[in-house]
Amino acid sequence: MPIESQKSIIYLDNNATTRPDPDLLAELVQLIQNDQFPWGNASSIHLQSRDPKNTLRETRRLFAEIFHCQATELIFNSGASEGNNTVLKSVWQSLGQSKNEFLISKVEHPSVIKAAEYIQSLGAVIKWIPVNRKGQIDLEFIKNNISNQTALVSVMFANNETGSLFPISTISEIIKPHGALLHVDCVQALGKEKLNLQELRIDYATFSGHKFYSLQGCGVLFVRRGSPLVNLIHGGGQERGRRGGTENILSVWSFQQMLPLLKWLEAKNHEVRKLRDHFEMNIQNKITGVTITAHEGLRLANTSSLVIQDVDGETLLMSLDLKGFAISTGAACSSGNPEPSPVLLSMGLSRDEAQSSLRVSLGWHTKPQEMDSFILALVEVVERIRKIKTEAEEKKSHAG
Ligand SMILES: Cc1ncc(COP(=O)(O)O)c(C=O)c1O
Repeated sequence: MPIESQKSIIYLDNNATTRPDPDLLAELVQLIQNDQFPWGNASSIHLQSRDPKNTLRETRRLFAEIFHCQATELIFNSGASEGNNTVLKSVWQSLGQSKNEFLISKVEHPSVIKAAEYIQSLGAVIKWIPVNRKGQIDLEFIKNNISNQTALVSVMFANNETGSLFPISTISEIIKPHGALLHVDCVQALGKEKLNLQELRIDYATFSGHKFYSLQGCGVLFVRRGSPLVNLIHGGGQERGRRGGTENILSVWSFQQMLPLLKWLEAKNHEVRKLRDHFEMNIQNKITGVTITAHEGLRLANTSSLVIQDVDGETLLMSLDLKGFAISTGAACSSGNPEPSPVLLSMGLSRDEAQSSLRVSLGWHTKPQEMDSFILALVEVVERIRKIKTEAEEKKSHAG
């Protein structure tokens, strides 16, 4: 699609992917035009490998400095799905014989849930940690189920659908005396919440560049020194033999460009929260039967998960898409799947509620005018859908 027509879209699906930062793209064009882009293979030994090697080294160094870890504890991969799979399969393969229990929250991303189901099929015992309607994780469940048989506890920093934040430092305090390893999916927290891998005593953390205004195709996996790690991709000796395959230098480079902007992005959250709250207040005033999922608990500033009574989420999404608004009804990975969101069902919402849900996720660039246009459009579309539904029901009852 030409860039011009993309401009008319109001993009409110930033938890699915973020639009690459415009300055980053401009810089990239400049580098390409000047033939300065680091296109070589970092594993080669001739001069052309120097720039990509530097890109990898500098990105690792910056990342380690910001998140308080060692550069050698970081592995570049294709994204967080790969990272999450690597963690669960590594721990099972390395420790499964002696410790076979895993505590995993019920609302994790499918790349954690499905990897957990896979190791379960091999013999792992998975204890699913409940999460309530407010988006709060059941700490009592963790306290009652943690033991020296627990190999790994896997929880997310922030939920991609509701924005709910989990109390990682409390979870860490509960589980560490039992010798369990801690994996935190940090994908949605990057650039939105403060993260200190050292202080939180995290053993594994997964990150993805495309949720952080850089290009798709690059993830970072943090593995604390000494924690088990099994290589899922055998190949060349890349990443110190821990993950085969030529690194995606273009994407890593774009990730590196965004890292210095982290503090600026975190500061922007204040404005983003104001805009999100303005949206939620207006929608609740203008449309009847709207509830905001998990609004009582701590949430990401940019995320709003709504249930709009008597309106089918898919119909709403398609009508808004036609009007030029990009939103989501649940995780992007499950769109096209008519089943209601497993995350919302796990939190105790009914099928009807989950089917009437909508996720709006703002970015740092979202403008007040864009939110106001969205409010107008949402009000109009909901009224229209409800009217059509009422007329159809009336017609049916007359016919009956
Ligand atoms: C919380 C969370 N974890 C993991 C992923 C998967 O990330 P990737 O697209 O890099 O594989 C996503 C993507 O939606 C996510 O939101």
